[in-house]
Amino acid sequence: MQDHTVLFVDDEVNILKAIQRLLRNEDFDVLTANHPGEAMELIERAGPQVIVSDQRMPEMSGVEFLSSVRDRHNDVVRMMLTGYTDMAIAVEAINKGEIYRLITKPWNDEELKATLRQAFDHYDLKAEIKRLNQVTREQNFRLQDMNRNLEEKVRERTKQLDQKHTELRTAYIQTIRALAEAIDAKDAYTRGHSERVAVYASRIAREMSLRTDMIERIYFAGLLHDVGKIGVPDAIITKPDRLNEEEYREIMKHPEIGAKILEPVEFLRSVVPCVRHHHEWYDGCAKGYPDRLAGDQIPLPSRVIVVADTVEAMTSDRPYRKALPIEVVVTELHKYSGTQFDPVVVDAFLKLLEEEGEAFISKDQKFDIYAFIEG
Ligand SMILES: [Fe+2]
Ligand SMILES: [Fe+2]
Repeated sequence: MQDHTVLFVDDEVNILKAIQRLLRNEDFDVLTANHPGEAMELIERAGPQVIVSDQRMPEMSGVEFLSSVRDRHNDVVRMMLTGYTDMAIAVEAINKGEIYRLITKPWNDEELKATLRQAFDHYDLKAEIKRLNQVTREQNFRLQDMNRNLEEKVRERTKQLDQKHTELRTAYIQTIRALAEAIDAKDAYTRGHSERVAVYASRIAREMSLRTDMIERIYFAGLLHDVGKIGVPDAIITKPDRLNEEEYREIMKHPEIGAKILEPVEFLRSVVPCVRHHHEWYDGCAKGYPDRLAGDQIPLPSRVIVVADTVEAMTSDRPYRKALPIEVVVTELHKYSGTQFDPVVVDAFLKLLEEEGEAFISKDQKFDIYAFIEG
């Protein structure tokens, strides 16, 4: 706690003496000045917390003095000593000097002491509030600073996370691609088949204005649609001639085998039904397999993939025939639209072909699914 000092200003020396006698044993210092000029000097030098000024002084009235103290040392608690009768002056003092209390002459000793103690308390309280405000302001600044740093850190972490996510996605795709390539590599004629089916299917999907996650699913399902061929004997897969009935039955198992292979892989769960049903017929007829689903029962990715699959197979060389011209493919799609194929998917494909021409089915296109989805 800081030492307390009060300054009394009065032109009557007797009054100042009386006050000094009265307050001799109090636990605060008492300074006196008998004109405002001296008082102002003492304020600068000794820094009292409380000032009590007489009203009637020859050089300057108490009101004027206290209002100039207010202007220069606003913290100092100001009080006025005045006779009862000066009500007009009292009001002026309060308005101009913003004084804390009026003390009437003659004063009551105990009341004066109590008032002075209250004035020091008032000063201390105001000083404490000021200090707390300052502390709060500083803490606010520090908080703002911390917030900025935090935001910066969050941004940085988010960026790192995004990067990790992208890396992970890329790793997934590479794994799936490798798997698809392994399937296609069983037969020289089908090399690149799965990748191309995935590309055609996702392009058709975008033409159909499907959602991003659906396009992504269609791409993965396209890459993996024939993964079950791993479980079909090589001799059947690479057989250059037409297959007999028994061999055909073996081949027909590949969608189910594929689904079984993919089922345990958590992040491919949504792709499993798409692989299982990529040889169903849209009209639900017996030529579809394995479950003879029809229309909307067939997962949308499967309906897209079957069109992409047919287009890719027909426009590629086979051991028993050359690649077929695109016109033949278009005729075939028209012919089977509504029976084998979903007409909506066929239309989307035909529209794309119209827009892009044969470039759409070129064999060596570079493809990045995420650049494609985002672009
Ligand atoms: Fe297939
Ligand atoms: Fe296929």
